Amino acid sequence: MKLALLWLLPLATLPADAAVNFRTQLWPLLAKNCVDCHRAPHKDPSGKLVEPKGRLRLDGAALILKGGSEGDAVVPGDPDKSSLYQRILLPPDHEDVMPPKGKGKLFSFDDSELLKQWIIEGASFGDWKGLGDAPAAAAPKAAPKAADPLSAGATAAPEAAKEAVRQLGALVSPVAVGSPLLRVEWVSGASAITDQQIALLAPLAGSLAELDLSDTKITDAALATVAKFPRLTWLNLNNTAVSDAGIAPLQTLLNLSYLNLHSTNVSDAALPGLAPLRKLRQVYLWKTRVSPAEAAKFAKSIPDLKVTID
Ligand code: HEC
Repeated sequence: MKLALLWLLPLATLPADAAVNFRTQLWPLLAKNCVDCHRAPHKDPSGKLVEPKGRLRLDGAALILKGGSEGDAVVPGDPDKSSLYQRILLPPDHEDVMPPKGKGKLFSFDDSELLKQWIIEGASFGDWKGLGDAPAAAAPKAAPKAADPLSAGATAAPEAAKEAVRQLGALVSPVAVGSPLLRVEWVSGASAITDQQIALLAPLAGSLAELDLSDTKITDAALATVAKFPRLTWLNLNNTAVSDAGIAPLQTLLNLSYLNLHSTNVSDAALPGLAPLRKLRQVYLWKTRVSPAEAAKFAKSIPDLKVTID
């Protein structure tokens, strides 16, 4: 069928010696077909905060390399591991295809080959940094969100405490307009963050709902602080040194629904500690020491839990 044929076609548009230019060849494609759903959090006409889909932003070089909720979107040199490329290759009615079914035009064969070639060549952005380059796309229509029981009783974090966390280079934003619940993340500079700095998050304990610590230098010690955020629903520890000892205290996080442990030192021994977290729905265990058998057992132990191990 179509897919089988693709491999037989010569790369006529891609002379072997010409490097793909991201700014002139790829950015226009992403800007037109992808960025509307994958850009900075912004307000829609009704004032509701719209987050980038899949937590993936494609409107800046550092943001593309940062990846989304499932980890890396682009692995330089490796198109097979780059979900940005894999998702555009999916059949048009596949549930994971990008753009989603009915939401835009699929990449042409030549365009997807261009993207693949760019990844193989090392995914260089040249002088393109993005952010400001993004076109002002129309704000997408968002469905109204149901009242959020987590907000009840949440305390608004003191401005001084938020400011102290911003001084660490973090983005501190409400999870929705008018919500006292906060999201804390590092778009850049994560590698400068250590256990010591995480201690500064403690005054946000009453309102912290989403925390992205991926690519930071934290160790298990930091998770003792994180365990004291009772409203945490979303925690990303991707590519950190955390291990089984750090996971154990997290059993206090009874509202947690998303936990990303991709590229950490956790093993099978960490999983029993997560069993009390009945609201867990998504756990990422790719590139850990967890065995597929234990991952499967764990997935069955909590209703509707999806565990991703490869
Ligand atoms: C109409 C909105 C929309 C458009 C347009 C769109 N996406 Fe998405 N994208 C989503 C949604 C929703 C998700 C999260 C659900 C999922 O994982 O399928 C997502 C997730 C992703 C992810 C996985 C992110 C992660 O780590 O979870 C990648 C990669 C991605 N999109 C790439 C693209 C690319 C490349 C394009 C352009 C060709 C594109 N998207 C266009 C809505 C969109």
